[in-house]
Amino acid sequence: MELIRSVAEMAALGRKWRAENLRVGLVPTMGYLHEGHLALAQRAVGENDLTVLSIFVNPIQFGPSEDLAVYPRDLDGDLAKAGAVGVNYAFVPEAEDMYPQGFGTSMDVAGVTETLCGASRKGHFQGVCVVLTKLFNLVQPANAYFGQKDGQQLAVVRKLVKDLNIPVHIAGVPIVREADGLAKSSRNVYLDAECREQALVLNQSLQLAKRLFDEGERDASLIKAAVQAHIETAPLAQIEYVEMVDAVTMQPVRRPEGQVMLAVAVRFKGTRLIDNVLLG
Ligand code: PAJ
Repeated sequence: MELIRSVAEMAALGRKWRAENLRVGLVPTMGYLHEGHLALAQRAVGENDLTVLSIFVNPIQFGPSEDLAVYPRDLDGDLAKAGAVGVNYAFVPEAEDMYPQGFGTSMDVAGVTETLCGASRKGHFQGVCVVLTKLFNLVQPANAYFGQKDGQQLAVVRKLVKDLNIPVHIAGVPIVREADGLAKSSRNVYLDAECREQALVLNQSLQLAKRLFDEGERDASLIKAAVQAHIETAPLAQIEYVEMVDAVTMQPVRRPEGQVMLAVAVRFKGTRLIDNVLLG
């Protein structure tokens, strides 16, 4: 696997691959890779002529009181893991190279960013859309891979490429979980033993929602109340939201029709975890 550090070098390679008509897969990440990231990478490797995995802790998608400074990093480990699943190039740019002095563009994908994480993390999706647009322009991938773990991010990226006619196919990959059901996340390292144990209520509550839905329940408020009540059995859980939204528009629904996403965000001693389940 080859390491690319400079934006100019990445742009030159992207142009070259495009000229050679190579089908390129892109897996954008912030590093500290786990099996969730690697599931995206494996799919990309299987579906493309070559795969680029980017590792960039994107400063502009973090709010002032968020964990940018302490976000976990392990470049050597990441390169070994990515190489082992067949990734061809790791693109690991510096913040100053991505956002040089005078950088001034922001992007607002209205309609899908007002709810869920968009409501509480102001500016987050603007930062995500800017960095992804830059990555798409640099790498010029045919396919880009995103996890259902960040269900709203997936919906936002799909709308971004549709609204702006960006010629990239967006592939969504199911959530990868620990054996006990906790969704894999780079942020799980922040959890102490007590929080790690109590965090199991997230997936349990989503399974409860799925069971109610499969049994025919269609009253969103009733399903959400059951999810909330189960999460509240964990004394350390501080709920940020429990919401049922349309899987495409991210708008809250009262009676689910078509595919909906039941999504939760919960803090455990300051560590914010998100999880979701698709229903229908
Ligand atoms: P990061 O949190 O590193 O996640 C990178 C990709 O891995 C995202 O598409 C995310 O949904 C996916 N992912 C994370 N955990 C997963 C799991 N347990 N199962 C399946 N997929 C999982 O999301 C970001 O980085 C950034 O916002 C980024 C898109 C790179 C833009 O900066």
